[in-house]
Amino acid sequence: MQTIMILNGPNLNLLGKREPGIYGAHTLADVESLCRDACARHGHALDFRQSNHEGVLIDALHEAGTRQAAGLLAGVVFNAGAYTHTSVALHDAIKGASVRVIELHISNVHAREPFRHHSFIAPAAIGVIAGLGVQGYALAIAALAGGKEA
Ligand code: DQA
Repeated sequence: MQTIMILNGPNLNLLGKREPGIYGAHTLADVESLCRDACARHGHALDFRQSNHEGVLIDALHEAGTRQAAGLLAGVVFNAGAYTHTSVALHDAIKGASVRVIELHISNVHAREPFRHHSFIAPAAIGVIAGLGVQGYALAIAALAGGKEA
């Protein structure tokens, strides 16, 4: 059974109490259980993580690339939070690890402030989901489980 990694970046631990008008009322624990159900439906195991630290996210992407190369991992659903808009290092980590990544945003970043319109992750990702709320995680899992290739 292959694993799907869900990787959440900075401030996503605050889901549920963080700007609920933008991100909704679901907590990160709710997102984890939604992802667990979606992975189970598709016959995959779940590896669910969150970190506020860029280097920890980079290490997770490297680990994911190694596990993918060994046939153990289908890919990563990555909500990089604000690092999406700032981090060349995360872009390089995805490319360097040759890992299949779907970029995910709960909110529609393109309908928000101009500084959220640029993504360093998107050019290294196989696809992007934004603005569909936490259900976007389930859609991204379905895409990875369906074997979407880089
Ligand atoms: C976010 C959008 C980012 O712009 C923001 O910095 C986040 C969350 C989202 O899920 O909508 O932290 O990635």
